[in-house]
Amino acid sequence: RTGAKVERQPLARYTTLGVGGESEIWFVSTLEQLGEAMEQPYRILGGGSNLVIHDSGVPERVIRLVGPLAERDLRADPDLSSDTEIVTGWVGGGVPLPGLVRQLQKLGLSNLEGTVGIPGQVGGSVWMNAGTRFGEMFDGLHTIEIVTPEGAKQVTPADLDWGYRQSGIPRGHVVSRVRLKLRRDTPEAVLARMDHADQARKGQPKNKTPGCAFKNPGGVSAGKLIDEAGLKGTRVGNAMIAPEHANFIVNLGGATAADVHALLGIIRERVAVPMELEYELWP
Ligand code: EPU
Repeated sequence: RTGAKVERQPLARYTTLGVGGESEIWFVSTLEQLGEAMEQPYRILGGGSNLVIHDSGVPERVIRLVGPLAERDLRADPDLSSDTEIVTGWVGGGVPLPGLVRQLQKLGLSNLEGTVGIPGQVGGSVWMNAGTRFGEMFDGLHTIEIVTPEGAKQVTPADLDWGYRQSGIPRGHVVSRVRLKLRRDTPEAVLARMDHADQARKGQPKNKTPGCAFKNPGGVSAGKLIDEAGLKGTRVGNAMIAPEHANFIVNLGGATAADVHALLGIIRERVAVPMELEYELWP
């Protein structure tokens, strides 16, 4: 045994929707522990911000990155950095993105401020190339360390088929660490762009939610399409299509995964344009 901590816990604790039954969580802090966790069927839990987990949990091991895999070394690598550009040391996949984005702003380091407001962890955010209209994770990546059941490898964005809300990294491969590629700026200038991007979220719901349900089909707002279908405020059990923005399903308190699935079904039925789900559904 490599010493990973293993515990059964309700996954609702680890999701922004606040839904999800009890499962076996593997808290891994080294690549060796990660390797051991991946020897049996597993799922990877990042910040739980884009995830709807079944009320009875999942039978697989649930992997969560902690310890050194949730730490950051933002010092510039002198061999790869210049006066204007820096490449950092390793930033763990388990690092919460909001704190990282704030820290980069204070250091006057630009490229990731467009992701402000995204609640996930670095690993999951890279895996799905999380972003907003103002920027996405791949704006600031230099190297990505990916762990597969066969072992760890390092790739660059050029090696991947990445795009809107996708990294090209296969499901089940873990983004264990990344090195960031950043541009030197002033903290004030970075803050101004961050505030601007943040403004766009002002109208979003404050309830528990996994974020936007659907990817925008062909650049059209999925929220606008769901809104035009007249679905704002539709409620199943304790889940509701948010009155503030129709691409958000919110937990009014005590919602179940089944409630959320039912709302997703109603949306698919009523919106004529085919839309791809942005969430992950377990199972
Ligand atoms: N709109 C409506 N009704 C609605 C929702 C939106 O008419 O219910 C209209 C708005 O008034 C606006 C347009 O649609 O004219 C675009 O809306 P918004 O600015 O909210 O942008 P979005 O495309 O709906 C995207 C991201 C959000 C991100 C916002 C702000 C996707 C799927 N969504 O939403 O990301 O927060 O821009 O940057 O890419 C997420 O990915 O989880 C997410 C919430």
